[in-house]
Amino acid sequence: MSTPAPRQLFVTTALPYANAAFHIGHIMEYIQADIWVRFQRMQGHEVHFVCADDAHGAPIMIAAEKAGVTPQEFVARIAAGRQQHLDGFQIGFDNWSSTDSPENHLLSQEIYRRLRDDADLITTKTINQFYDPVKEMFLADRYIKGTCPKCGAKDQYGDSCEVCGAVYAPTELIEPYSALTGAVPVMKASEHYFFRLSDAKCVDFLRQWALDDARLQPEVANKAREWLDVKEDGEGSSGLGDWDISRDAPYFGIEIPDAPGKYFYVWLDAPIGYLASLKNYFDRTGRDYDAFMADPTTEQYHFIGKDITYFHTLFWPAMLKFSGMKVPNNVFVHGFITVSGEKMSKSRGTGISPLRYLELGMNPEWLRYYIAAKLSAKVEDIDFNPDDFVARVNSDLIGKYINIASRAAGFITKRFDGAVATDWATASDVFLFNLRDVATQVSALYDHREYGKALRLIMEQADTVNAYVDANKPWELAKDPARTADLQEVCSRLLEAFRILTIYLKPVLPALATQVEALLNIAPLTWNDVDNPLPHGHVVNGYTHLMTRVEAKMLDALFEAPTAPVAAPTVVVTDGAITEHVATPLAPGFEPLAPEIKIDDFAKIDLRIAKIVACEAVEGSDKLLRLTLDAGEGRLRNVFSGIKSAYRPEDLTGKLTVMVANLAPRKMKFGISEGMVLAASAADVTAQPGIYVLEPGPGAVPGMRVR
Ligand code: MSP
Ligand code: ZN
Repeated sequence: MSTPAPRQLFVTTALPYANAAFHIGHIMEYIQADIWVRFQRMQGHEVHFVCADDAHGAPIMIAAEKAGVTPQEFVARIAAGRQQHLDGFQIGFDNWSSTDSPENHLLSQEIYRRLRDDADLITTKTINQFYDPVKEMFLADRYIKGTCPKCGAKDQYGDSCEVCGAVYAPTELIEPYSALTGAVPVMKASEHYFFRLSDAKCVDFLRQWALDDARLQPEVANKAREWLDVKEDGEGSSGLGDWDISRDAPYFGIEIPDAPGKYFYVWLDAPIGYLASLKNYFDRTGRDYDAFMADPTTEQYHFIGKDITYFHTLFWPAMLKFSGMKVPNNVFVHGFITVSGEKMSKSRGTGISPLRYLELGMNPEWLRYYIAAKLSAKVEDIDFNPDDFVARVNSDLIGKYINIASRAAGFITKRFDGAVATDWATASDVFLFNLRDVATQVSALYDHREYGKALRLIMEQADTVNAYVDANKPWELAKDPARTADLQEVCSRLLEAFRILTIYLKPVLPALATQVEALLNIAPLTWNDVDNPLPHGHVVNGYTHLMTRVEAKMLDALFEAPTAPVAAPTVVVTDGAITEHVATPLAPGFEPLAPEIKIDDFAKIDLRIAKIVACEAVEGSDKLLRLTLDAGEGRLRNVFSGIKSAYRPEDLTGKLTVMVANLAPRKMKFGISEGMVLAASAADVTAQPGIYVLEPGPGAVPGMRVR
């Protein structure tokens, strides 16, 4: 096989919103991209693969406020849970950053300035928008509710009715109210900044980028054609409107240069986060970011889901082009993953939590294999089906591939001290020749993201290998001392075949490939090694178990139907009576546990019983209550707590609660907060509202330590 010249690739996946843990859809996207990246690296190409949290925007700001923390703290909490998922599923990003990073602030402002000053593509317009006079904030459509103008259904969102499906402007709602405060919104004018996407030079560029060269997937190109509204006579004006890129304070985002109180709309700085993460990684590892991006041979690819195609095939290439940056070579769009045919919902999740999958001890490479087997280069949805999962993993992956090693390696170690014999006449070796011959086809399929087809082809090859086993019956050869040489040859061929199949599967099964490399006692496999057989007399290591089968009951545990708890019942004997306690099913929206800590870590937190001697609302804040706490210290403490939405001051006065007593005092807008009271809430308080302050059992007195 000839080696193509090494390419330099910059690859990203979409930056997930930093308001929730990963769901299976994220993991699917990362697996798709990771397989491609590993494949390209096996070809000898240089790949830089990065991602980041998408930190900005109103929803995150509001969620942080409800949680009583700063948006930065809120995002940091979510970010802290990322690595264990990525490691768990062997997603090999080189860097994970945040769109709130210094690099992204600088790059976003730089790109904006170039669009404004060099390309003359920024303009301003005054627009009228609903404004919440209580919250003192402009309201995005999703924060306005009211009565549907078509069917009269109450409490519908500002853009469409969930009851009759009507689509309308928020101004058409009857009796609109703010979903944040319930206040009646008022119309207010404000100056907004726009990217003039309708400018002829943008439209011309986008038509060329999106529609020429058959760059995009056909379905994506069709969409782009619709958006760019190309008429047969070539004269049609485009349907592209100018893009509103500013939001008014308060907003969690990046300030627009020379525009006090204005911030970039999250979708402006989010994709720039791709570049910022790469820059952060290059700076950190002593590489030259500017040189890499200025190099015309550098290729840039973005893996994304179908819902964000518009941003990536119109806004993003245009932003890059007209700020004088490299434009993406391509955007690879995938469909959505459904679970047993059901769409995932933001509030309910999917029924499969990636973390739960890992916690159950399920092998991450089963999922990588299964998802790969379902993926193609089309923008089509795929379904996670438990029975199909068990079948594919057990009959294909284990039954066809893994079993080859277990059938051959034992004889080689036991009978030949691990030495393989490969001095047979290669020229006449049709079996291995055919196996090697598909390398080009397999690699083309990986390169085109046709993983399902690649795996089918590989499994067909595994079938021929198994047919070879059945035809040559090593277990029978082993019984006949006269045929020892044949036994060694047959088993050596099988190990060689297994080695080649492992190369083909390595992008999907990286950890398994590492185990196989150890078993075969060879250096990490690259694509070219297809043509480098095990040398004659090479000694392999003893067979160790490579992969177990999936058990159907694991999938039951993964899904955990609400009516069938899987946790083993705990038997408790009280006063001679035996009671069986069964855990309730996994709570909807259950927040994954924080990383494990040692008892010493816990001991660092000094929790004390405190009496709420006074409690009052904080003027100018709609979320805080000011608590005066007595924790038996001979002094009183002032603590601000974001629980106003759940308690009236008089409900709390006189109660006992639990306070974090050794928390560093924190200066807030309204004064210094000298501690924190403990309260329970769901991870997503918008989906599952309620905040519950902790109260000790009877008998506790202020000052007691909670341990
Ligand atoms: N923050 C934006 C992306 C900014 S990129 C500059 C965003 N975040 S997201 O968390 O909602 O989605 C992240 C990625 O996950 C997107 O590519 C999205 O299409 C993908 N998926 C979300 N749900 C999915 C499935 N059910 N299945 C597969 N991918 C899905 O959008
Ligand atoms: Zn309606």
